[in-house]
Amino acid sequence: MTVHVLVLGAGGRVGAALCDLLPGYGFSVHGLTRSEVDVGDDDAVAACIAAADPGVVIYAVAIADPDRCERDPAASYEANVAGVQRVAAVAARTGRRVIYYSSDYVFGSAGTYFEDAAVAPLQVYGRHKAEAEQLVLGCGCNVVLRLPLLFGSKDFVADAVRAALAGAPLAVDRRRRFPIPVTHVARLTAGIITSEAVSGIYHAVGVEAVTKAEWAAQIAGLLGRPVPPAVAPGGGLGAPRPVDVELATRHPQLRTVPGTLWAATRARVAELAKPV
Ligand SMILES: NC(=O)c1ccc[n+]([C@@H]2O[C@H](COP(=O)([O-])OP(=O)(O)OC[C@H]3O[C@@H](n4cnc5c(N)ncnc54)[C@H](OP(=O)(O)O)[C@@H]3O)[C@@H](O)[C@H]2O)c1
Repeated sequence: MTVHVLVLGAGGRVGAALCDLLPGYGFSVHGLTRSEVDVGDDDAVAACIAAADPGVVIYAVAIADPDRCERDPAASYEANVAGVQRVAAVAARTGRRVIYYSSDYVFGSAGTYFEDAAVAPLQVYGRHKAEAEQLVLGCGCNVVLRLPLLFGSKDFVADAVRAALAGAPLAVDRRRRFPIPVTHVARLTAGIITSEAVSGIYHAVGVEAVTKAEWAAQIAGLLGRPVPPAVAPGGGLGAPRPVDVELATRHPQLRTVPGTLWAATRARVAELAKPV
């Protein structure tokens, strides 16, 4: 039987990618953007879930910019905690599962973290993600999928391609990241939807490490352009970032296949550099 999936936050990077990719796994997908339902509105949340009548609700709503969350913790709380709680409560009352995306920012210091490691966020964003994880898990047979840095839509690769083509400066840092393409998130999400008994916390794992400085150099090389002049990321009221945090998992199917980072980067650069 076809599983009906409701994607909240369908206008965002992850939400839009899921709306594109999940039908390819055989699900019927209904996506709602912020202009169609605001998760701050109790009645709207209940009404949209009743109308879509999904088996699974995907919460891809977020304020995912840690600096913005630091500047405006109340707005972060609304989107990153209160909205999640509202959706999970309606889903639990009506017998539906929720898939919630969390982040490697729930960890604070350098290290390799499995799903059962204690969280220790450094900033408002990570604290709110960690709080929401507990709310979602307390509401039923739900899944939290923690993600590292993503690419494939409005991403660092697009910034690096633009900078390399224009010879413009690019903000980079030297933190080790383990990026994954959004296609990997869609594949794992499809697996979670299909495995009805799966619940708890899982890590989506990228097996290749790269810093943004190294990644920008590779991207410039693919374009045959000089490496863009590096500038430090904006400081000021920015949120503290975890350095060299690596998500790990004992479930091999949650890891990217070795070579994914470079193959997906090449494909993304080719797509972005294509003449229109
Ligand atoms: N992108 C990454 O690299 C990354 C890494 C780790 C984890 N994640 C997690 O992945 C999830 C999705 O992130 P993303 O990168 O797709 O974020 P995004 O591109 O910023 O998308 C979030 C979406 O949520 C919408 N939204 C915000 N407040 C809302 C509200 N009150 N009601 C309804 N919609 C609302 C936004 O709409 P507006 O734009 O109109 O405000 C936006 O379309 C988040 O949980 C994030 O923590 C992302």
